[in-house]
Amino acid sequence: MRTPPRRTPAGAGIGLRLSHIAEIVATRPQAGWLEIHPENFLANPHAFELLTELSHIYPISLHTVGISVGSAGGINRSHLARIRTLVDRIDPVFVSGHLAWSTYKSEYLNDLLPLPFNMESLRVVITHVNEVQDALGRSYLVENPASYVAFANNRCRETEFLSELVLRTGCRLLCDVSNVVVSGHNLRYDPHEYLDCLPSDAIAEVHLGGYTAEEEYLIDTHAAAIADPAWELYAYAMGRFGPRPTLIEWDNEMPPLATLLAEARRADVLKSKVTRLEVRCADAC
Ligand SMILES: [Fe+2]
Repeated sequence: MRTPPRRTPAGAGIGLRLSHIAEIVATRPQAGWLEIHPENFLANPHAFELLTELSHIYPISLHTVGISVGSAGGINRSHLARIRTLVDRIDPVFVSGHLAWSTYKSEYLNDLLPLPFNMESLRVVITHVNEVQDALGRSYLVENPASYVAFANNRCRETEFLSELVLRTGCRLLCDVSNVVVSGHNLRYDPHEYLDCLPSDAIAEVHLGGYTAEEEYLIDTHAAAIADPAWELYAYAMGRFGPRPTLIEWDNEMPPLATLLAEARRADVLKSKVTRLEVRCADAC
């Protein structure tokens, strides 16, 4: 039996990073929720204790970077068991991870690597998402990747792959709007059309993060403020999907906590305008 989320966050949340955790514990700022990378807390007992304290104040979501649903070699079950222990302790609102692979045999690669979209890879990902959901006892949210290459042997589009994954596993989706901007630019597709092709009912969470322009590519660095094209697409997404729990991601070149909170407030204001105007996205921006 898969349990539903504990409670839906009211306002936009922020990624909880170790550089801000003491300030958040001390000042308890207004934030809709906090999202963590569990791998950063499992190996840090002090941070784990602070996280437990914060879980009594804020809804928490777990955004895993070490569950590699796209790896042909299978899921690391001992890591999955550690995530389950954290789930039982924190009772997160969401548990999510990427449509990517990051392990090969016993090696962990510190990157989220792309996979081809065909029947063979779909079968692999379905098996692993089912395994993750069974082990965690709840739905898993799968995030669309930031892409820089496309495989010559792709047999369907990413949106079709994700839709089929939802249909076959009952998983839900984490739509990273900034990743759609990045991938659309790098692979030359229309980000709005991409959102139109996602199964709206399956979108449980939205990410917004900063990216960086390098030569002709956009790179998903999480090291900058959210750019205007991502805000514009976010307004379109809220009109397309309806209001969804939104999370501000920032992982590198960390700014003051106040900057993250201001980005979260901006998302809330934009989301409320879109809701009121009912899909008049351009006006809401
Ligand atoms: Fe993301």
